[in-house]
Amino acid sequence: SGAITLDPGYGNTGSCQSAITFIDGEKGILRYRGYPIEELAEKSTFDEVMYLLIWGDKPSADQLAKFRAQLVEHAGLDERVKKHLEALPATTHPMAVISSVLATLSAYYPSTDDRDEDIVRLLAKFKSLVAWSYRRKKGLDYINPDPNLGYVEDFLNMMFGSYDEATVSAMHQLLILHADHEQNCSTSTVRMVGSSHADVYATMAAGVCALWGPLHGGANQAVIEMLEAIQDDGGDVSKYVTMAKDKESGFKLMGFGHRVYKNFDPRARIIKKAADKVLDALGIDDPSLDIAKQLEQVALEDEFFVARKLYPNVDFYSGIIYRALNIPTDFFTVMFALGRMPGWISQWRELRDENARIHRPRQVYIGPKQRSF
Ligand code: CMC
Repeated sequence: SGAITLDPGYGNTGSCQSAITFIDGEKGILRYRGYPIEELAEKSTFDEVMYLLIWGDKPSADQLAKFRAQLVEHAGLDERVKKHLEALPATTHPMAVISSVLATLSAYYPSTDDRDEDIVRLLAKFKSLVAWSYRRKKGLDYINPDPNLGYVEDFLNMMFGSYDEATVSAMHQLLILHADHEQNCSTSTVRMVGSSHADVYATMAAGVCALWGPLHGGANQAVIEMLEAIQDDGGDVSKYVTMAKDKESGFKLMGFGHRVYKNFDPRARIIKKAADKVLDALGIDDPSLDIAKQLEQVALEDEFFVARKLYPNVDFYSGIIYRALNIPTDFFTVMFALGRMPGWISQWRELRDENARIHRPRQVYIGPKQRSF
């Protein structure tokens, strides 16, 4: 196998060509379809970003109205989905609930010949599934979609039975910031599974599973748990920074570091500001925010983190906002999945439209030579 180039973790392997998301990790640039993330976070809605990512351009007023109407039309979920949710113990991690129930939706909504129709249906139903899984976990009655509400408002309404302006705007921004990030672990998983022509629900369920891990989307839950542990332990952030430098400890600073960003994560900058704003607007004083800021400061002045170019990533401050919005800790990564769904879908659509070859990496075999059994 001399011809095989080994690249563990695919740090230097381009797995596809893509016209969706651009990242310059040295300069801290992130753009969806050419639009800077800062501008989208400020001026666009999540509906527009979903459309932009999937279909390539900013929607016209007509296109947006049609898209929104389709999202409303498909928001309902088969009553039998409740039985799936209730068959799982209420203690099941929400990412396990979401991934497994999502994979079964093909039973009720089998794929059609119209890929774009399937896509809208999936976006609409995923939102309802997330909200219903929350209601089930809390033991609350299910709330049906309200055809008069936009995607984000309806999501909040199906979760909590109400919504307010500050929460809606924070939610749009968070979902936009999470919507795509080129070939990260879950997106590469979606492309991998999609390349076998597996059904779209199964493909997206695989993305959810990949996102769950604490080195990826699961970091947002892990960050809050870390901040709480620091607080319970007396609030000495230096102790945890020291521990993170010791490889033997097995402890890493959650929400720090990134494969591609080596100067800063532009999403983290926006989220940090948003955290201050949201907590202010909702009149919440969360000691975790102070601990997070202290931790960031101490780490950024530390030689170990400076030398390795480790900075706060998107997950570092997002959990503080989710908590302020009353989202339970083990639901944080589900929120990430809700935001990332249009990204996964856009990458899957691009892959299928170009009739991509099945993904099948090679290896360098290092096991025993032939032996006799
Ligand atoms: N705390 C302490 N040391 C770290 C950390 C950290 N959070 N991240 C990286 N390092 C060290 C790492 O040990 C290595 O040291 P050395 O060169 O001495 O061996 C060096 O920094 C380079 O790190 P790496 O492990 O080669 O980086 P990677 O590209 O393989 O992994 C990462 C990237 C994000 C998985 C990693 O930084 C990490 O585990 N961070 C904590 C989990 C996290 O916040 N994940 C969210 C990522 S962003 C959004 C998302 O994907 O959901």
